[in-house]
Amino acid sequence: MPLTNRTHLSTLTQFLIEERRRFPSASGDFNALILDVALACKAIARAVALGELGGTLGDHAADEGGNINVQGETQKKLDVLSNEVFIRRTEWAGNLAGMASEEMDLPYQIPPQYPRGKYLLVFDPLDGSSNIDVNVSVGSIFSVLRVSKEIEESGRDVCEADFLQSGAQQVAAGYALYGPTTMLVLTVGDGVNGFTLDPNLGEFMLTHPRLRIPEDSHEFAINASNSRFWEAPVKRYVDECLAGRTGPRDKDFNMRWIASMVAEAHRILMRGGVFLYPRDTKDPAKPGRLRLLYEANPVGMLMEQAGGRASTGERPMLGVQPTSLHQRIGLVFGSRNEVERIERYHAEPQRSELCNPLFAERSLFRV
Ligand code: F6P
Repeated sequence: MPLTNRTHLSTLTQFLIEERRRFPSASGDFNALILDVALACKAIARAVALGELGGTLGDHAADEGGNINVQGETQKKLDVLSNEVFIRRTEWAGNLAGMASEEMDLPYQIPPQYPRGKYLLVFDPLDGSSNIDVNVSVGSIFSVLRVSKEIEESGRDVCEADFLQSGAQQVAAGYALYGPTTMLVLTVGDGVNGFTLDPNLGEFMLTHPRLRIPEDSHEFAINASNSRFWEAPVKRYVDECLAGRTGPRDKDFNMRWIASMVAEAHRILMRGGVFLYPRDTKDPAKPGRLRLLYEANPVGMLMEQAGGRASTGERPMLGVQPTSLHQRIGLVFGSRNEVERIERYHAEPQRSELCNPLFAERSLFRV
């Protein structure tokens, strides 16, 4: 598209100001926070795009401050840099009461030289880190929560309990995808909008207004190397997809696995599909791989706001009451009818319990 034809597109700033007109008493703090987050994402996009030239690929050396994060995962240099960028770009403005990140064991306190505000920012600064060194898409994902009146008025330090809010309480959620183009996808609770970074202007432009996820799909994403650890309802769902036309679904399915949840969420927002990283029996200490507060909840809000669905496999993700900052959880999201089917499989008696032929495939009691 020639540059001149792009002048009709709204910038992220214009979009936020127009949204704010719906709330005449709004202070502008929220918009300022989102713009700071967007700036952090632009800086991370530049670092990611430089690759080897930026000297930021590879593991974060132990002698530079340790290289294992709170999840027990090896931190990449870019994980650490991205975390720093998120903090520095957002801590100063007086909009935040505190932050939490995948890369930090404890909540981050706003330094005393800065004013404190009414929002909490929770983020995974660089999701899909295993893809960094191989030049495959990665992203940042974030969630915005409100603090209680008590914190707002006292300005006290935040603690873990202040972040333990269900996904339904999120004020906003979004991600930036660092792919062939950099995109910011955002919900402020009124649908989902996608912005593409115009590298000439350094501005996010509203290119994908009011995204909607098709209700049905024939594309699924799951790490099949874990199949021996799956629970029966997940195994059933995937087996039926694989059986395609010859099975109970009566249609062929396609499969994708990028190993970068932000990229998978984006594909699903663009053309539908279902993503599963379900609870499994691989490691009894980990009830799922992905994290509730900064992965499952923000992606859950985006999905629901785009007409899709997000679930633990058994119940809506946004209704889950968190119990710890870095809690892991089984996550299923995407096209509504597929996610509901998976929930139904979890709710139904398992095959092993079904000796009665009335429950066999294509029988009276099967859908
Ligand atoms: O940190 C989470 C993550 O990188 C997700 O982005 C991705 O979906 C998943 O892990 C990939 O996990 P695995 O390496 O088991 O395929």
